[in-house]
Amino acid sequence: MDFSVSKLDILDNSFEITSVGVFEGEGYFGISTDNALNQHLSNIFSSKEFEGKTKQLTLLHIDQKQTVKRILLVGLGKREAFTLEASRIASGKALQFIRNLGFQSYASKIFGDRRKISLSNLVESLVVGCELTNYQFSKYKTIDLESQKKINIVTILLESDDETDVVRSSISTAQIICNGVNLARDISNTPSSDATPSQIAEEAKRISRENGLNCIVLEVKDMEKLGMGGLLNVSRGSQQPPRFIIIEHKLGDDEKPIVFVGKGITFDSGGISIKPSEKMEDMKHDKSGAASVIGLMQTVAKLKLRLNIIGVTPLTENLPSGTAYKPGDVLKMSNGKTVEVISTDAEGRLILADALTYVSKYTPQAVIDIATLTGACVIALGSVATGLLGNDEDLKSRLKLAGDITGERVWELPLWDEYKDQIKSEIADMKNVGGRPGGTITAASFLSNFVDYPWAHLDIAGTAWTQEGTPERPYLPKGASGIGVRLFVELLRNWRTKQ
Ligand code: BES
Ligand code: ZN
Ligand code: ZN
Repeated sequence: MDFSVSKLDILDNSFEITSVGVFEGEGYFGISTDNALNQHLSNIFSSKEFEGKTKQLTLLHIDQKQTVKRILLVGLGKREAFTLEASRIASGKALQFIRNLGFQSYASKIFGDRRKISLSNLVESLVVGCELTNYQFSKYKTIDLESQKKINIVTILLESDDETDVVRSSISTAQIICNGVNLARDISNTPSSDATPSQIAEEAKRISRENGLNCIVLEVKDMEKLGMGGLLNVSRGSQQPPRFIIIEHKLGDDEKPIVFVGKGITFDSGGISIKPSEKMEDMKHDKSGAASVIGLMQTVAKLKLRLNIIGVTPLTENLPSGTAYKPGDVLKMSNGKTVEVISTDAEGRLILADALTYVSKYTPQAVIDIATLTGACVIALGSVATGLLGNDEDLKSRLKLAGDITGERVWELPLWDEYKDQIKSEIADMKNVGGRPGGTITAASFLSNFVDYPWAHLDIAGTAWTQEGTPERPYLPKGASGIGVRLFVELLRNWRTKQ
């Protein structure tokens, strides 16, 4: 989608339809325009047909010298409660409505109060709401063209020419970020037969080449040298060879890097501990962590962030077969520790263990892993928040702040030592399952055996794709959410700000 900026009036005949935000309970619509329109607006307001409540929309038809001009009133909720999230919801709602009417373009005023929120934040959230709402995963549609209605261009209406530069630069930043989110969505939404570990690795190489990133892809022989018993054993049931991708962005001088590790199970059948067939198709999304890391790396390169950032993704299928790893097997991991396999369905932590060990060689400032790790996290937090655990207070509080700003909220669970008792094994250093109680925490406790740096773990099992309990948001179309990209970009932009 393209964005342009214009200083034209909302009633200008060059726009067939224009959207304008209205705060709840305020008679004044914040637009300086002719009296006829103001009268129209105040009538509809006093009749209580439209009060400006969040998600409320009303379309006005106004006769304008032989042409009909349409104005979409977009409810913003109460002025004092207006946030960036309210802005994303409002712009997403407006785009959805206008798209459903069959238009391909429209003009929009900037929603919100510039005295309370900076112009750049208002514009960025407006564009994010539009871009993420307009996303459709239509690669496999050949007939249902109705669902492929799309907005091609949005014109943002300025109040004065002085705003042009700020608005243009905020549009461009938001578009870069949304392209990263939508890239992550594409990878996660793609069926496992078209997104194998090797295909994703090829895609990562292409993205890296096009954006000046350094990309290294490890193959089986490299994994063998490193003794990656987690990744190699999980991959044994599949005909597809595993891959281990490392993407490096180096614009931070001699600083130690910030590392992101994403779980990349391209399909999780559970393996020999096979899953029930109901909803098993959703397990193509078990690569969402990897997808977000790849989307993030494209974004940080395009934004030219002055930091050293590394993205790592172990990739494999988890399938049952005569060559598959089995419950009862003992695996030797790349840090030398041994793991008794209780369930082959607790495979994510096994591949992450090798990845977390690998990244230690960078002596990183911080490592954040992102993974669709446990069904237990969906039981604990539903699909409203991502689970957060880790060993570093500063890193966790930075993630919480970034979550509140972006709406990709995270909620902390404890990582106390007592939980480690649940993963003690009789025959090995640990086992890969700690029973049903506190399943998200015992999974993170397992991972903590493989880290020796400041670390945070995000469990996105409930938030990686839309499911029962996902909040109604126009910018979350069915399927993958691309969660993590916006959260991490926000974290990184503020990295040098003291907490
Ligand atoms: N990929 C799943 C976790 C998952 C389940 C994500 C549902 C999203 C929705 C993971 O590999 C898994 O199967 N975990 C098991 C762990 C158990 C065997 C200890 C689970 O959560 O049931
Ligand atoms: Zn599993
Ligand atoms: Zn899994």
